[in-house]
Amino acid sequence: DLEAQLGGLAGQRVLVRSDLNVPLDHSGEQPVITDDGRIRASVPTLRRLLDAGARVVVTAHLGRPKGAPEAKYSLAPVHARLAELLEGVDVAFCPVTVGEEATAAVAALREGQLLLLENIRFNAGETSKDADERGAFADELAALADAYVSDGFGAVHRKHASVYDVALRLPHAAGGLVATEVEVLQRLTTDPERPYAVVLGGSKVSDKLGVIDNLLGSLLTSGDRLLVGGGMVFTFLAATGREVGRSLLEADQLDRVRGYLDTARDKGVQLVLPTDVVAATAFAADADPQVVPADAIPADRLGLDIGPESARAFAAALADARTVFWNGPMGVFEMEPYAGGTRAVAQALVEAKDSSGAFSVVGGGDSAAAVRTLGFADEQFGHISTGGGASLEYLEGRQLPGLDVLD
Ligand code: 3PG
Repeated sequence: DLEAQLGGLAGQRVLVRSDLNVPLDHSGEQPVITDDGRIRASVPTLRRLLDAGARVVVTAHLGRPKGAPEAKYSLAPVHARLAELLEGVDVAFCPVTVGEEATAAVAALREGQLLLLENIRFNAGETSKDADERGAFADELAALADAYVSDGFGAVHRKHASVYDVALRLPHAAGGLVATEVEVLQRLTTDPERPYAVVLGGSKVSDKLGVIDNLLGSLLTSGDRLLVGGGMVFTFLAATGREVGRSLLEADQLDRVRGYLDTARDKGVQLVLPTDVVAATAFAADADPQVVPADAIPADRLGLDIGPESARAFAAALADARTVFWNGPMGVFEMEPYAGGTRAVAQALVEAKDSSGAFSVVGGGDSAAAVRTLGFADEQFGHISTGGGASLEYLEGRQLPGLDVLD
């Protein structure tokens, strides 16, 4: 209970760290939010605090500016969307994060009002590796509030001032979103119902090594399944001796991936790789996409999605699973000719939940955006995480600074 943990909320200045890092399309005159999932997921905790009469100060990042203001990373479009979602609430925006102007804006806040501070990463102290510099910035942040609520789950793997250091300086608590995300991850890592199926995609196998190590090392057991697609799969296919043409390949990971193939076989974990792929002559929608066997990708082509036969096999491997975790698209889903694999996996997760009551989790970032872009609704899945890197690091078995600091 936030109220008890923080020693009362009414009239208190509560600093909330949210993750409002949403994808923006800058091609038009005004930036357009293409997936507002993280903003929507942040609203319940904010409402809870506002309803209790707190004076709510929200801090968040957008993108990766280098410690100084950059117009394209402004949270102004996020402020507009947040104000729509919090209809009836006075939602103000402060164009800086700390200092006189921020202090005055916070002082002007009344009970039940909210102030969103500009992108916290416009300040070098936020992400500094120097603990003193980060600490000095955290002091300034902490001076704006009486209590701190950590609700930006997507950023809890970052040892940043607003995620970590500020919690050392104020009475603090986890918000509802962080609590829910952690419960889901605990369910995925502590005695999950089996068969347990994990689907991994995305472009680089080197981003997923820690997760695969932990999956094959401890989380998956005999009868469980590991399905691999996306750009990273070509390193798996090459490791089994197949020609992958001009597909993405991380040659320096081949030995490690061969080790994974051996471990999976020894443990009885079924490793499901595509048997066909959609291959094109270039990274473009109109580059003559063709379905080719996974062991005969022509030398002048690159694979950009798993093929239809593979999509059926992936769906079959998910059909009777009791627990499913999916991270990373199967192909370049943003281009329709290469969206089939990702759509099929999303559909298979939906069916596994509907037909066998599987607990299905879509792990944040790109995968969450993918399922929404492809027209699926959040309610069709057991949980759509707001954390990409954060969920993966949790599944790697790592300590996350933003969770550790909350005890
Ligand atoms: C994310 O998008 O995964 C989170 O918002 C964290 O962003 P970061 O990877 O830039 O720290």
